[in-house]
Amino acid sequence: TATIQAMNQSLRDEIAERKRIEEALRVSEASARASEEKLRTLFDLLPVGISFLSPQAQVLQINSAMLNIIKLSKDQLFNQAYKTRKYIRADGTPMSLSEFASARALAEARTIYNVETGIVLENGQVIWTSVSAAPVDVAEVGVVVVTVDITDSKRAERELQESHRHLGILSQRLVEVQEEERRALARELHDRVGQTLAALNINLIIINSQLPAEIIQQTGPRLNDSMKLVAETIALVRDVMTDLRPAVLDDYGLEAALESQLSKFTSRYNIKAVFEKSDRPIPRLGATIEMTFLRIAQEALMNIARHARAEQVSLTLQQEEQAVCLSIQDDGIGIESWQEANRPGSHGLTIMRERAEAFGGRLKVKSVPGQGTIVEVSIPFKNDGQDQSGKEGQL
Ligand SMILES: Nc1ncnc2c1ncn2[C@@H]1O[C@H](COP(=O)(O)OP(=O)(O)OP(=O)(O)O)[C@@H](O)[C@H]1O
Ligand SMILES: [Mg+2]
Repeated sequence: TATIQAMNQSLRDEIAERKRIEEALRVSEASARASEEKLRTLFDLLPVGISFLSPQAQVLQINSAMLNIIKLSKDQLFNQAYKTRKYIRADGTPMSLSEFASARALAEARTIYNVETGIVLENGQVIWTSVSAAPVDVAEVGVVVVTVDITDSKRAERELQESHRHLGILSQRLVEVQEEERRALARELHDRVGQTLAALNINLIIINSQLPAEIIQQTGPRLNDSMKLVAETIALVRDVMTDLRPAVLDDYGLEAALESQLSKFTSRYNIKAVFEKSDRPIPRLGATIEMTFLRIAQEALMNIARHARAEQVSLTLQQEEQAVCLSIQDDGIGIESWQEANRPGSHGLTIMRERAEAFGGRLKVKSVPGQGTIVEVSIPFKNDGQDQSGKEGQL
């Protein structure tokens, strides 16, 4: 009857409903299995180390990449072999367990990124890792840790630093060798050309005084001209010698050398120049560093004479905390285009920079078109009272 029919129908509905639920459950279980499967594959395939730790920092699960990185077998891992190892910070000092990314993630309840951790292996070898850790609260897991092996990139970085250091030593040596050559050239000029010219000059004076009047009348103008030429050549050689080896630098120091450079500049190019000296006396910096400052000033002044169309130049030399700073400022046309200034044929700015960097210094060139240019160089000095000119012996 109607009631029985209704009951039957509701029973059928219920069965269908149950079937649908069972089917849905089956599907969702299958998909959970599938996604677990995917996750596990990923877990074992990823090239970074992954580990799940309990809130007490016990290892619950770890992938094979992690075992590879820390060079432990599963057995060693579960025997907690890692606990007896030493760990070091990026600077090589000992690292305590509380500094680990995992410990900090747990303690601070936040994700900790890229903690550089060196693992000292039993054979003394160091594995460098970068470790990140995030606190989680799923089942018994307390923290997920991701570990990347950075040993190779650290080594590459170190090698790069080392080759930079070598390059620095080389450029310093280059500057020294160049100065030695110049000094030798100046000596040759002085001893050979200079002496010979001086002798020639004396001979001419004597000849001039001994020639009979009638001959003087004939050859006098030519002889006078020769004597003038010799005198000019002597002055020229002296000039070249001063450029090659500014004796004033050796004898009276950097300030005096810069001052004489400036006065020569003013008389040669008719550009006004002021020299603002340091309030504190500049210590002697060693021959090579002083020469570096002077050469940079020479090149900067030469650039001003050639390119700047300036009316006034000001030069300052200051001692700061750990460095001596020289700046050369002009009020000329400024540098219009840096691309143009750095074109392959131009070496002045590059050489200035390399000279400064060879001694651990820096060179800055600032310019506003139409308003002039400032060249600033600062070189740190070692305040140990040692003269650095005798360095060659160490190389
Ligand atoms: N004080 C300055 N005022 C204006 N322009 C400048 C100044 N100093 C440099 N420049 C510009 O920068 C360019 C590069 O200078 P840099 O000294 O490197 O080379 P250079 O003087 O052209 O050639 P060199 O190799 O003989 O020194 C110059 O050609 C010039 O255009
Ligand atoms: Mg130049």
